[in-house]
Amino acid sequence: MVEFGALPLFLCVMGLFSESLCFVTLEVEVGDNVTIWCRHELIVSGYIHWFKHTCGSAPLIIGCKQFFGSVPSQNCFFFNESERMVVSVQGENTSLTITAVNVSDTGLYYCSSTDLMRITFHETNYLRVKGSESRRQSESAGF
Ligand SMILES: *[C@@H]1O[C@H](CO)[C@@H](O)[C@H](O)[C@H]1NC(C)=O
Ligand SMILES: *[C@@H]1O[C@H](CO)[C@@H](O)[C@H](O)[C@H]1NC(C)=O
Ligand SMILES: *[C@@H]1O[C@H](CO)[C@@H](O)[C@H](O)[C@H]1NC(C)=O
Ligand SMILES: *[C@@H]1O[C@H](CO)[C@@H](O)[C@H](O)[C@H]1NC(C)=O
Repeated sequence: MVEFGALPLFLCVMGLFSESLCFVTLEVEVGDNVTIWCRHELIVSGYIHWFKHTCGSAPLIIGCKQFFGSVPSQNCFFFNESERMVVSVQGENTSLTITAVNVSDTGLYYCSSTDLMRITFHETNYLRVKGSESRRQSESAGF
């Protein structure tokens, strides 16, 4: 019984980067802009981080905001945001907007919230960037 119960978890781990087994998968084309949402669940104050996780490497911090409850969030003094990856915070939600995605942006994205008590990780989204130029051409032909 124990072995049987453990099977779905095992499949889930095996499928970590096999695109859609466990995660919401967003498929975009090279050059698209994409916004990924996450619910941070901070109430008072703390830090919101965004991570990118790719096969075989540790999670990479790609965004950070300091959260102050009802006062607008601020950039984290210890982290310089990239121009292509912009974090915004709206109430209990946070978004990551990546402009002009590249194939190398493919990976798992998620946010975390940190307050005085703990660090909590939230929703994961698998972003898959397809390297095709065909849609671009058909878009310019169609519009
Ligand atoms: C992506 O966003 C940038 C900056 O906001 C804008 O200039 C560009 O046209 C957008 N590209 C697409 C494909 O929507
Ligand atoms: C952020 O950028 C500023 C100005 O370019 C630089 O002085 C500072 O060291 C950078 N901070 C980090 C944490 O990379
Ligand atoms: C947060 O996101 C949820 C689901 O996407 C949405 O229903 C809710 O209105 C959002 N809240 C705020 C404050 O933006
Ligand atoms: C796009 O991704 C490819 C493959 O990872 C990389 O070689 C290239 O430098 C990237 N281009 C840009 C503009 O980042």
